This record gives sequence, C-alpha cells and structure tokens, in this order.
Amino acid sequence: MEELVRERLPRHVAIIMDGNGRWARHKSLNRIEGHIKGIEAVRAVVTACRELGIEFLTLYAFSIENWKRPGNEISGLMDLLQRYLREELDEMLEKNIRLRAIGDLDSLPPDAHDTLIETLEKTAHCDAMVLTLALSYSGRDEIIRAVRRLMADGENKGIRPEQISEETLSNYLSTKDIPDPDLLIRTSGEYRVSNFLLWQIAYTEIYVTETLWPDFGKDDLIKALLNYQSRQRRFGLTDEQLAMEPG
Ligand code: IPE
Ligand code: IPE
Ligand code: MG
Repeated sequence: MEELVRERLPRHVAIIMDGNGRWARHKSLNRIEGHIKGIEAVRAVVTACRELGIEFLTLYAFSIENWKRPGNEISGLMDLLQRYLREELDEMLEKNIRLRAIGDLDSLPPDAHDTLIETLEKTAHCDAMVLTLALSYSGRDEIIRAVRRLMADGENKGIRPEQISEETLSNYLSTKDIPDPDLLIRTSGEYRVSNFLLWQIAYTEIYVTETLWPDFGKDDLIKALLNYQSRQRRFGLTDEQLAMEPG
C-alpha cells in the first residue's frame, strides 16, 4: 500500500460532513441518531488529523440554509453541539487543540452560544492544531459581511477602491488567520459546495467520497490524503514550469 509522505500532507483539510440523515434512514432510525453517530466520526477524524500533524481542520457543521430544517432537528443538533463541546474540552486541552468558529454565531441559541464562546476562550492558548467549526455559516454571507465592514472602513479610514487587493478582502473574512484549505472532502457522494468557504477554495483540491459521514473514519481520511498526494497542484502553470521550480 502507498504510504503517506509527511512533507506532502495538506496543511489545511476542510470537510463537508454530509449524509447523516441518509445513514439513519438506511437503518430505519431517526435523523438525530444519524447526527449522534456523526459526532463519533468527528471525534475519530479530529484525533486522526492531530496524530497525523494536520495543522488546520475545518468542519462544516451547520449552514445558514440548515435553519430551514424542521424545528426538532435543529434543536437536536444544537443540543448535540453543546454536548460535544462540553465533552470534548478536556480532550482538546490535552491534545493542545485550539477551537475556532466561523459563521453567524450570534444566531445560535444562547446555551450553545455561551458554551461555544467558553470553549473558544479556554482553548485559545493551544497551538498544535486549529479545529474550526463552521456554524450557521454561509460563504456568501461571510463575503457580504466582509464587504460591509470594508466599505465602512473605506469611509472611516479612507481606504480607496484601488487599494483593495485579494489580501485586503481576505483579511476581512472570518478565516483571516487561517490559510486557504488545501483539500476539501465531501462525504455522501454529492458533487457540490453548498455555500462553504466560497472565496477560500479557489485552488483547493476537491475529494468526494460515497461514504456517508457517520461511516467516515481514519481509513477514509487516509484514502483522501493519499489521493491528494497523488495530484499535481498547478495553480495555472504548465507542468514544465512546475518541473523547473525549486523544491
Ligand atoms: C449532514 O448530514 C449534517 C448537517 C447538514 C447538519 P445531513 O443531515 O445533511 O444528511 P443527509 O444529507 O440528509 O443524508
Ligand atoms: C451541507 O450539507 C452543510 C453541512 C454539512 C453542514 P447539506 O446537507 O445542508 O447540503 P445540501 O442541502 O445537500 O446542499
Ligand atoms: Mg445533507
């Protein structure tokens, strides 16, 4: 079997964790049971990424569009989020994992919101891996909010339109301290981005697996990483140009 090459591991892996509902339906269970099993997959993948030395892991846990789901599913998910954060805090501290969150966090129910903020603060000093949860997140919403703040600063701080570069806009996004993802994994066989990290995935390698999220584990992650390592990232160049590049 091929081996992972440490120097060629992605720095940042982002995952669209999809398929919890179908997993539950296949087993004639309630959708919430799928989300409960999905949290076990989250634990397995966080542990595996930390062991492998992945620096940044970003998980799409709840989209702005997901607020349109039935009320009982939403409240079930929010309860699970809070429970996950409570149960995982010690593990995060022990493994030196910093939790971050992106999205419209103010729209979360107060209990989940407060537990989240507490966990962000308590793990703020950790520096072995950054685990970012996208909660009530939408890529377009993130860009709109960035542009609003940028325009306000344009007025207040006198930033002129011609001074705005890609870097300027990146610095107004909620991911400003996080490098763009190298690898985006989507489970459950859907070939779409569903409003995730739209700006940040401009040159990200995409990997789709049929595996439903609750069944996703370390082996699937390694398969995705091996696939990633077999690719040539060209960033618009020719392969001859890349062959001449140092390193
Ligand atoms: C992903 O699983 C979890 C969330 C979106 C919160 P789904 O709940 O979307 O599962 P499917 O797509 O219905 O199978
Ligand atoms: C994407 O999954 C959002 C999360 C994984 C949180 P969805 O199940 O909401 O996406 P669509 O509706 O299939 O595009
Ligand atoms: Mg889905």
